[in-house]
Amino acid sequence: MTTADDIFDQSAGNIERLGLREIPFTESPIDLESETLNHIFTGREKELGQVFNLFQSRERRRILVYGQIGIGKSTFLLEVLSVLRRKRPKMLTAYISLPANLDLATTALIAVAREMSDDNWAQSQLYQMGIPTDKVVKERSAEVGVNAVATSKISEKDLPITKSQYPTVSLETLLERAQNKYPDGVVIAIDDLDKQNPRQVRQLMHDAQGMLKGRAWFMLTGHPQGMAGDLLTSERGLFDLQLPLKELDSQTTYQMLINYLSSARIDNDCTDRHDPRCVLPFTPEAAKRFCAISLGKPRLFNRLGNAVLSTAADLQVDKITSDVLDRGLKAASRTLREQAALNAREEQVRLFLAQRGSLSDEAIAIEDLEQLGFRSFSELMPYLERLEEADLAQRGDRDDATVYESLPLLSGENEDELEDPDDTPDEVVVTGLR
Ligand SMILES: Nc1ncnc2c1ncn2[C@@H]1O[C@H](COP(=O)(O)OP(=O)(O)OP(=O)(O)O)[C@@H](O)[C@H]1O
Ligand SMILES: [Mg+2]
Repeated sequence: MTTADDIFDQSAGNIERLGLREIPFTESPIDLESETLNHIFTGREKELGQVFNLFQSRERRRILVYGQIGIGKSTFLLEVLSVLRRKRPKMLTAYISLPANLDLATTALIAVAREMSDDNWAQSQLYQMGIPTDKVVKERSAEVGVNAVATSKISEKDLPITKSQYPTVSLETLLERAQNKYPDGVVIAIDDLDKQNPRQVRQLMHDAQGMLKGRAWFMLTGHPQGMAGDLLTSERGLFDLQLPLKELDSQTTYQMLINYLSSARIDNDCTDRHDPRCVLPFTPEAAKRFCAISLGKPRLFNRLGNAVLSTAADLQVDKITSDVLDRGLKAASRTLREQAALNAREEQVRLFLAQRGSLSDEAIAIEDLEQLGFRSFSELMPYLERLEEADLAQRGDRDDATVYESLPLLSGENEDELEDPDDTPDEVVVTGLR
């Protein structure tokens, strides 16, 4: 009888057959403290150079990193911070994703206080906001008894955050306190600015002018269309550096594949791009095709990589040839659509885009809009953005036109592909055609 343990072993064995300890592809950014980030981070040399140049001066700076969804903003931020942690031990670096309904000063306060675990005042600030800290939990557990120690970390989201009454002042105080231990300064990275409502974020930025020009370095991220787009034009003077992140070029994407695979390969960690073993279990040919299809977009790359390796494992092969890749990509395209869970209208837009290949505000015909039930391109935009978010479309702006394109991965596919052709006997298909 096959037990669940056997199934587990078999599953692990299928990955091992590919020469891998695990599937290295992930969709979310890698943890700042982990070795993995170091191993897999690829490219962005020019952008890193621009940021690090600023850090050669004592002058505090404000940096805005912007780029499309899934292009690697969070990972870039984390890479900058991890380098600073190694190179500037006397600098405090703090990372936080902007929580909903919170002002920037309180957000910055939380980020910095979390890094100052041996500062009682910082910890009491967190405690007052209902954010558990190691210190306070320990003190409490000492009062109540040993059992309370088991209180594990509660995630931030689950807790009501009571905003600090004078966050800007509290932050100033905190930064002053940090000065002794961190004479090289404090860097506060606030990620995901435009995952919140744009109007609200605009107000947040407006209210935070004083803080942004204060004692700390700031790095912020957003999408060019949403919040960041606004900042780029209206707050020109606010940022010392506005850094766009674009798709990685094909050479870099290939190197990224090498880095991911070598981080998980069992018996060779070859990273020499001229050695064909560096992309194992991919054949070099399949590796190149894989890179071309992932378009230099790190999140799409990771999503596809995941699907391709899972498919190869299921097929119990030991190499990813072009043929295996095709089956993996087909599975990926299905998974992307499933994950997206599009509603009927979004699906209608997706099919229309797949049919046309691309849609742009300059070239779209009124009839096309009417057919889809929209009065203007801007009404259609949120649907296209939704598709882009799900990696079912890509935005490629040209001159003054906004253009959305269907992904090559999905072109030519249609509803009939949802059924596995292997399930349909050939005769039936032939009869159907007649
Ligand atoms: N330069 C890079 N090298 C290697 N992997 C990367 C790189 N940039 C991003 N990734 C990987 O790609 C995935 C998506 O990246 P990330 O989450 O940073 O994108 P993002 O722009 O912050 O996305 P979002 O707009 O959704 O916040 C992650 O799994 C990340 O580890
Ligand atoms: Mg991000």
